Amino acid sequence: MLDISEIRNQFPVLDQQVYGKPLVYLDNAATTQKPLCVIERERDYYLHENCNIHRGVHYLSQKATEAYEHARQTVADFIRAKEAREIIFTRGTTESLNLLATSFEHLFINECDKVLITAMEHHSNLVPWQQMVQRHHGQLLVVPMDDKGVLDLEQYEMLLKEGPKVVSIAHISNVLGTINPVKEMVAMAHRYGIPVVVDGAQSIAHHPIDVQELDCDFFVFSGHKMYAPMGIGGLYGKAEWLEKLPPYQFGGEMVDTVSFEKTTFNVLPYKFEAGTPNVGAALGLETAIQFMQGLNRNEVELHEAQLLCSAIEKLSEIDGIRFIGEAENRSGLVSFIIDGIHPYDLGTIIDKMGVAVRTGHHCAEPVMTRFGIPGTVRASFAMYNTLDEVEIFVKAVARAAMMLR
Ligand code: ALA
Repeated sequence: MLDISEIRNQFPVLDQQVYGKPLVYLDNAATTQKPLCVIERERDYYLHENCNIHRGVHYLSQKATEAYEHARQTVADFIRAKEAREIIFTRGTTESLNLLATSFEHLFINECDKVLITAMEHHSNLVPWQQMVQRHHGQLLVVPMDDKGVLDLEQYEMLLKEGPKVVSIAHISNVLGTINPVKEMVAMAHRYGIPVVVDGAQSIAHHPIDVQELDCDFFVFSGHKMYAPMGIGGLYGKAEWLEKLPPYQFGGEMVDTVSFEKTTFNVLPYKFEAGTPNVGAALGLETAIQFMQGLNRNEVELHEAQLLCSAIEKLSEIDGIRFIGEAENRSGLVSFIIDGIHPYDLGTIIDKMGVAVRTGHHCAEPVMTRFGIPGTVRASFAMYNTLDEVEIFVKAVARAAMMLR
């Protein structure tokens, strides 16, 4: 059995009062808290190992280089990539997606080309593709969803027939919690020879990822949503794709030879890592992965599913509540509005009761437009949350709703 109080001991930030009330932190889809081992790993790096990597012949530089490359291997193993060179360290999901959109543009995008995304994408998986196709008078194709927040796979098939150059889809929606059938969607796109990017920002902390089983061509994620420091994340790409794509940023380390006339580029993964990387955060990411691997992930999944189930069940009793996102296959979070109450007002009041949630459009304005709402209240869970916290949260929502009515 998962020992939640032992897990919570690893997260001192949770043990505090806000406005004189115990903090109930339910904004994990925005960022998770960091366990002591991750904080200590980063501190340790700066205390004893700090050095620029891949550059010096000296002892510290070699040690830091080895540690950084070890972290890359750990990430590769964690998501079951075939090789470490298929992992590019980035600042996070947003940078990974910008990298892909830019590289695709240089190599593959011609006048009037299309890119296919879904109706539930975070702005990070929408705007880079939109801006890119618009520069070429192309078009962003969008897979629609139903009122429960489930993608229409028949429409998806129709849109694939329009020949988009790339498909980019959220694994789990950050607003609706829908788990999309990405394995099936990848297989469908591959029948038309179209590569698929999976945005794993909201899935990697909650479910084991196997990129070979998904057979996706790219998988992107952020460290800070999986108990790791901010400013680190990753891009997985099948080696044959990463070999073909041109570099995204230019500078030191990503080059092979440079003259005033010509530059040749380094091999994978360095070709995509211009400049000094965030070594300390990469080591923190490795430690966060080891921390997760040290727990029984099935038990973590079960616990998080219980939190979600309990929150939905208890919230359902509140008058006038409307859930936004009711897919059967969902995970990690619950979004809702209450009749006649602005999400922001509700969020502000429950904050004073110690409960931290996110309100607003969650960087997914088209999702709000689709459901005809200004925003939602979103509670998102992590392994350290408890059923008692769910109860405090629901009581706070019920009380705030009464006050606001
Ligand atoms: N993408 C993060 C969220 O959904 C910031 O809150």
